[in-house]
Amino acid sequence: MSKNILITGASSGFGLLIANELHRNGYNVIGTSRNPSKINVPFKMLALDIADENSIKAFTSELFKHISKLDVLINNAGYYLSGLAEETTIEQGKQQFETNFWGTIHLTNALLPHFRKQRSGKIITVGSITGLLNFPNAAYYGASKHALEGYFKSLRFELNEFNIKVAMVEPMGFKTGIITNSFVAEGKINDYDTYRNKIERFAKDLFDNSPEPTPVINMLLKLIEDRNPTFSNPVGKGASVILSIQHFAYKTFENTLLRNINKFK
Ligand SMILES: NC(=O)c1ccc[n+]([C@@H]2O[C@H](COP(=O)([O-])OP(=O)(O)OC[C@H]3O[C@@H](n4cnc5c(N)ncnc54)[C@H](OP(=O)(O)O)[C@@H]3O)[C@@H](O)[C@H]2O)c1
Repeated sequence: MSKNILITGASSGFGLLIANELHRNGYNVIGTSRNPSKINVPFKMLALDIADENSIKAFTSELFKHISKLDVLINNAGYYLSGLAEETTIEQGKQQFETNFWGTIHLTNALLPHFRKQRSGKIITVGSITGLLNFPNAAYYGASKHALEGYFKSLRFELNEFNIKVAMVEPMGFKTGIITNSFVAEGKINDYDTYRNKIERFAKDLFDNSPEPTPVINMLLKLIEDRNPTFSNPVGKGASVILSIQHFAYKTFENTLLRNINKFK
């Protein structure tokens, strides 16, 4: 029997690509979007806003009308709030957490009783390299992804005895809809004008030159089939090197990042 795989945020970017690929490979894919009627895809698409508890309730009962067993949940839905920390309102920061952190946790919680009853399953969450280290201009985004890392590290132990596997994927920057769909800090503090300008040019250059998302899709395909996936799975050019430098030589990591930022005068 083909695996039933649920992918949140399957209307764009990584979610759409992995959903299409799995569908082509014969898996039974269920994707989600806040506006499913706007999208024409070959797999089943259901309505879900992970930042809305009522939507999660309605979605969960709808989901089990279509499947009786859930093999894999891919927590992919999320968005990027960019901007300098002090220029970002607390309200914007809370909204970032409502989706990226609490939304992911609410949905996972709604599905856990089904996974436990089955005594099997897999939960793969799309975190970010900014959940393992962080860059300027991404304080709340990185914080929400750090929070996911901490939460799922703990959950992995607790679900092990139910044969439910828990893993993260931590991509570097890849070309998706993430920038088009991003939100920007609402505040402006004149003191930051020069720095903000430099950081925005650095970030634009980084995203303009980011690669196509194939390595992330390949990692997700591997994790879906892996019987015992490792917890942390960073993806992207130089990800492992960057992570070990920041771990073992933080000053070197910081200086390299500063040098790259300072190229943008
Ligand atoms: N691209 C990168 O460089 C990168 C790097 C590291 C991590 N990530 C992570 O990868 C994941 C996917 O992002 P992407 O890069 O593929 O961006 P994307 O193209 O903007 O896709 C984001 C998806 O999330 C969904 N979404 C957003 N808010 C939602 C909500 N409240 N409830 C339900 N669905 C919601 C969107 O669906 P609808 O708008 O249709 O609802 C969309 O399908 C995110 O968690 C992101 O943080 C991306």
